[in-house]
Amino acid sequence: MNRLYVLCFCVVVVLRTCFSTSMADDKPMLAGTPPMGWNSWNAFEKDIDEKKLREIADAMVTSGMRDAGYEYLVIDDAWMAPKRDSKGRLVGDPKRFPSGMKAMGDYIHSKGLKFGIYEDRADLTCQGLPGSLDHEELDMATFAEWGVDYIKLDSCHAERNGRMSSVDYAIFRKAIQATGRPMVLSISDFGNAAWAWGGKKYAQLWRTSNDIYPWMDSIYYCAQTSGGDQKSHPAFNGLWQFAGPGHWNDPDMLHVGNLKHIPDDRKEAGNQAHFGLWCILAAPLMAGNDLRSMNASVKSVLTAPELIAVNQDPRGIQGYKVFSKDGREVYCKPLADGTAALLFLNKRRESADISVSWKTIGLSGKQPVRDLWARRDLGTIDGGFTAKDLGWHESLMVKVGKKGKPLPTAAPVPLEKYTVTRTGVTYLSDLYYIWKAHHAPVYDATFANKPIVINKETVTKGIGCKGKSAFMFMAGGKAKRFRARVQMNPSSPASSEGRFKVYNEDFFANKVLWDSKKMTRDSNALDIDVDISGVQCLMLVFEGKDAFGNWAEARVIGK
Ligand code: GLA
Repeated sequence: MNRLYVLCFCVVVVLRTCFSTSMADDKPMLAGTPPMGWNSWNAFEKDIDEKKLREIADAMVTSGMRDAGYEYLVIDDAWMAPKRDSKGRLVGDPKRFPSGMKAMGDYIHSKGLKFGIYEDRADLTCQGLPGSLDHEELDMATFAEWGVDYIKLDSCHAERNGRMSSVDYAIFRKAIQATGRPMVLSISDFGNAAWAWGGKKYAQLWRTSNDIYPWMDSIYYCAQTSGGDQKSHPAFNGLWQFAGPGHWNDPDMLHVGNLKHIPDDRKEAGNQAHFGLWCILAAPLMAGNDLRSMNASVKSVLTAPELIAVNQDPRGIQGYKVFSKDGREVYCKPLADGTAALLFLNKRRESADISVSWKTIGLSGKQPVRDLWARRDLGTIDGGFTAKDLGWHESLMVKVGKKGKPLPTAAPVPLEKYTVTRTGVTYLSDLYYIWKAHHAPVYDATFANKPIVINKETVTKGIGCKGKSAFMFMAGGKAKRFRARVQMNPSSPASSEGRFKVYNEDFFANKVLWDSKKMTRDSNALDIDVDISGVQCLMLVFEGKDAFGNWAEARVIGK
């Protein structure tokens, strides 16, 4: 009897598992490797029309971009008419897309490409055109009818939606699933912590950064949001542990071929550094240059087959830094075939040799090395590798090791180090913040690294910050109260004002749980004791230009 019971139970479990994975998730099928394509924004911004985009589709084929792997042609903002039609449906701008969007999609498909389109989750797009708020099902169904394969869903004005980001994207995800058409969902939210609030449940990729611009500072900044500590606690060493097949960190679209404010003799190096970073970081490769006039150098960068192979490696590990000092960096991406890709990059004007030892990446002894730009074997090298005499923006991408068992990755940060997992008190300064904007917070000290004094009492736990400062912790639904005492630091300029706010989730969710209102340097400390039951992500914000503030004894009480 017992055995029969156990057998039945097992059968039910197996059936349920099969059923739920096949029913619930189109994700493993979609974007199993980082999406590759071309997007109109970086090349043309609002200046798009069907003639131009047809020419781009043609150029994707004739330039060899399609065959190199670029499959999506994504039409960004400003394709739509300023008004919906009488049935409330989106329509293409009649002047610029007179044949309509379905015809546009058909043309794209006829070239063996896939059709991507832009929308916004609020009532208006960033360019003030009709957004999808309250039209989610209709719009997703319309896109499916037009044969759309990829949706970039932007977030301008979404703070007016009155919904959490996680709620917004869940609605779109459901609406997409209801169409029955597999469409990649790309979260464009300027890096507002989708990796924390659960982007991977709803979408295949999410932005980690503000908008990219065609100069190296911006490109390096965007790369650091995904591959460095621009957006997350340094302990994470970038966001690599949050990416994988079907869910990618997106440091924004490529500007290869568009670089400005860079000497001519650095342009190719700049393009290579940009592309190399995106490849090693397993970033989506969305070209953003005018493909109709691409020169040979730009084309050779965008279509470099062995670089693309690193980006598209089926193991789907996002590369991470194994060395970083004074603008010289080495990134490692362990690959499916047992080898690893290494990117050596010099961001500084002064030339440098940059070295890494095999030990750092889990290898030893003699290892074959191949230059992936030159597509040339460099021989077998003992102990480690030095990229010699790398000039300003110069980089080298190599593949090292023999084929065989996949190399171990770096150790990801364990959940309990960045999420509330305990009952009782957890000081937030004992957890790594998962997201930050502006100035990084300082743990258990003021921003200037002095003891925190609150109402004349010195405390050992707390967070010091400089306005403006925002950071997020994972409460993971495991905490019931947030408590702290807040006060401006006496070192703030006499005339400065500060304001402390506690939010549920990100800025777009716009759910303020507690607000100190304006404080000055002379204001008494305020006690915070707020209910955070069910809160997944807790965001602390300190506003105030040049002001300093302290979250003394910031802590949560676990359930
Ligand atoms: C935002 C996005 C950009 C682009 C524009 C279009 O700024 O981040 O990538 O889509 O909107 O208006």
